[in-house]
Amino acid sequence: MTPAPAPPPQTIVIFGASGDLARRKVLPALWRLARGGHLPERYAIVGYARTGWGTDAFRAEAHRAVREAAAASFDEGAWREFEGSLSYVSGPYDEPGGFARLVEHLGGVENERSTGGRRLFYCATPPSAFPIIARRIGEAGAQRGARIVVEKPFGRDLGSARDLETVLHEVFEESQVFRIDHYLGKESVQAILVFRFANSTFERLWHRDSIDHVQVTVAESLGVEGRGVFYEEAGAIRDMLQNHLLQVLAFLAMEPPRSLEPEAIRDEKVKLLRTIRPFDPAEVVRGQYTAGSAGEVPAPAYRAEPGVAPASDVETFVAARARIDNWRWAGVPFFLRTGKRLARRATEIAVVFREVPAYLFEGQGVAPPVPNHLLIRIQPEEGISFAFQTKEPGPGFVPRVVDMDFSSRSLEAEALGDYERLLLDAMEGDHTLFIRRDEVERAWELAAPLLDCPAAMETYPAGSFGPAAADTLIAPRRWHLRAEGGSL
Ligand code: NDP
Ligand code: BG6
Repeated sequence: MTPAPAPPPQTIVIFGASGDLARRKVLPALWRLARGGHLPERYAIVGYARTGWGTDAFRAEAHRAVREAAAASFDEGAWREFEGSLSYVSGPYDEPGGFARLVEHLGGVENERSTGGRRLFYCATPPSAFPIIARRIGEAGAQRGARIVVEKPFGRDLGSARDLETVLHEVFEESQVFRIDHYLGKESVQAILVFRFANSTFERLWHRDSIDHVQVTVAESLGVEGRGVFYEEAGAIRDMLQNHLLQVLAFLAMEPPRSLEPEAIRDEKVKLLRTIRPFDPAEVVRGQYTAGSAGEVPAPAYRAEPGVAPASDVETFVAARARIDNWRWAGVPFFLRTGKRLARRATEIAVVFREVPAYLFEGQGVAPPVPNHLLIRIQPEEGISFAFQTKEPGPGFVPRVVDMDFSSRSLEAEALGDYERLLLDAMEGDHTLFIRRDEVERAWELAAPLLDCPAAMETYPAGSFGPAAADTLIAPRRWHLRAEGGSL
């Protein structure tokens, strides 16, 4: 296979370069892209934050972060080469002086490293800083020919999302804005599109006549991991349902796009989101974890985590029924579920087909009959399996459930990590895997009833699979991923 051409020369500016996201995701992703030969032939990476570092301190921090993320594959020699691309400017946001210095610094770097004038501004700060960053870029006249990457959450409800968009668009055109939802950077989420639209078999069955229901589960075993203050402002609905889960749902349920053009794909996603009914709080379960276990060790209750209010009403779990009002999906429930401190980390989609109209094998051993189901595993294992019934060898006609199983490992190809793929696409100016303004707004409209009128709070012990009410929500069906395990 011919390697994809590298993006054109450019400078990547990371705002909030002293923070968690920069350290854990952005810098390690840039390093891996450099190691894989995917970065432009000439590039520079400039960190900007208020923390009073200089370039040497930034390089030392980046070295630590990348070495930790890369573990055994870290290569000190290659680091020396990469490190030359890194520099840092310390400055504030609340007065223009810092940005004036930044722009001057950029001029020098671009000259020295011959990166031309192309710039990618990456906002790795809390969202409250996005508007001032956009304004400062505008005041400095640095938006021309530049692109800006903003991290989720895009606002905290429809009103604040619109306010944020207004400010961004005072400075940038929509074509310059790249809104990240890192779930779209995951190989196996992108693979949904290929699976659906490059194979004729399943697409013929991909509708209400054949499918009973669909489950999307994003189960995390970790708790809030020192992000208690952030999480108190978010909760599972804002942090996961409004974005990651709805994005996966859009890929699963959208109509075939007319081409792979970014706007063709994004048009279909928005069309689908518009056919989803705003969530009904009566069909949503909110939950919060109480003390329990994390693997073998005890885990505290959410309310006892640092930064969390002792009487917090913020949900760490949500399960919801989505209703899609279009010809393809009317009447087919899509059950979405996510939570922290669940029994294990697993993101999977279960597409459950209708049962046969008349079951011949009653009394032959398997009861009740297990419907055919397709499992799309997103993480930690990536793959697709299809469960069907065959005959148990021996007397009679005893059905037995078996799997046709594909694991991405069998492809023996090196995948790009989610942030690597998205950074690369942003550097190339490809919007396919980024969220458009109308998608953000529609997703907030869908979540609005849950924010305005939250469902009652259930609890679940850390280390379980969430509150019992989530089992009632899906009944008489059952979650594929559940404590006792097993097929549906
Ligand atoms: P941090 O709280 O670590 O903030 C990042 C940096 O931003 C800080 O180091 C700080 O640097 C600067 N900063 C903090 N407050 C302000 C402010 N009011 N104005 C300007 N700068 C400020 O956040 P994260 O790194 O965790 O997250 C950054 C963004 O990425 C957020 O939007 C978050 O929602 C998103 N995100 C984060 C994920 C993660 O895993 N961390 C995952 C997905 C999204 P200094 O004080 O030096 O200026
Ligand atoms: C982030 C959320 O967007 O996604 C986190 O803010 C969550 O709370 C994370 O843990 C999950 O991402 P992943 O890639 O680990 O499934």
